[in-house]
Amino acid sequence: MNNKLKRVTVAALLSLSTFAAFAQDKAEAEKTFMSDPINNPLFPVYVIGLLIIIVIALIVVTGISMIRVINVLAEQAERERAAKLGVAYKPRQGWWSRFSRQMNDSIPLEDESTIELDHNFDGIKELDNHLPPWWKWLFYATAVWAVVYMVVYHVSDSYPLMIQEYDTEVADAAEQIQKLKASQPQEAIDESALTFTADAAVIGKGKEVFNTMNCGSCHRPDGGGNAIGPNLTDEFWIHGGDIKQVFSTIKNGAVDKGMPAWGKSLSPADVRNVAFFVMSLQGTNPANPKAPQGEKFVAPALPKAANDTTTVQAAL
Ligand code: HEC
Repeated sequence: MNNKLKRVTVAALLSLSTFAAFAQDKAEAEKTFMSDPINNPLFPVYVIGLLIIIVIALIVVTGISMIRVINVLAEQAERERAAKLGVAYKPRQGWWSRFSRQMNDSIPLEDESTIELDHNFDGIKELDNHLPPWWKWLFYATAVWAVVYMVVYHVSDSYPLMIQEYDTEVADAAEQIQKLKASQPQEAIDESALTFTADAAVIGKGKEVFNTMNCGSCHRPDGGGNAIGPNLTDEFWIHGGDIKQVFSTIKNGAVDKGMPAWGKSLSPADVRNVAFFVMSLQGTNPANPKAPQGEKFVAPALPKAANDTTTVQAAL
């Protein structure tokens, strides 16, 4: 696989997994019947409904078998009657063969000469067949349906048109997004004042982001790097290893190099969290790491460790 193809595949997988995560969120939000059928108040209704369906199916099956038995008996009786009267027994036609003959109404093969047209192209002749009745009925039915459709959708406006349905769904979705956003107020992140500390809570959240966003598909789940994405655990950085630089790389991506701009799909807080998690991977030395890329990053001398907590708290 060439790199471009890989990127496309990964991007596709990525959007799939994001979608799955979204679907899961939704399922959790509203408990569906399937998530806990037994305790659902509608459970007895479904059970009784199922029983009724089974009973109806049994009645239908028995009914059909009984009709077949009666048919066999009737045929036998007719055979005996014909034998008694000394006439040849002619089997009655079933309703299906009668129906199909009516619906096709084709000229029997032996009578085809009566409908032969009088032209002849190199021995190829044409028959003047009429349209089969089933076809004509279908045609009439579509004409009737067209009138019904017209009246329902365009004259009485009883049901919304497809475009209106679409618009309502889009509006509903927009409203839901609005609600979701309103329920998750975004934490403002001051990029310029960002400092890294090994804050376990933030790193834990960042790890979650790393997993749900599938960063591991390009950087390996342990951050060691693979054919697509660079190693995130070494001291070498293409875009700089300072927390502000890492934050900015994740937020803006390196789109032409295959690193998506996550600022579009992640909240600033999530970008901060995952940037903290990436920073926490420094020096974890996973097995078979990808060879270093970029330049070795040397952190500028840090202020006294004791100050760190306060600065970060301000940054959070
Ligand atoms: C589709 C593949 C892909 C995914 C998914 C991906 N990355 Fe990347 N990432 C890359 C590539 C490729 C680079 C190198 C870009 C370059 O060469 O400029 C990169 C670079 C980076 C860098 C900079 C590394 C350096 O050396 O400067 C960081 C940090 C990073 N990614 C973090 C993340 C995080 C966090 C996620 C998940 C939110 C993520 N990446 C998801 C492909 C990906």
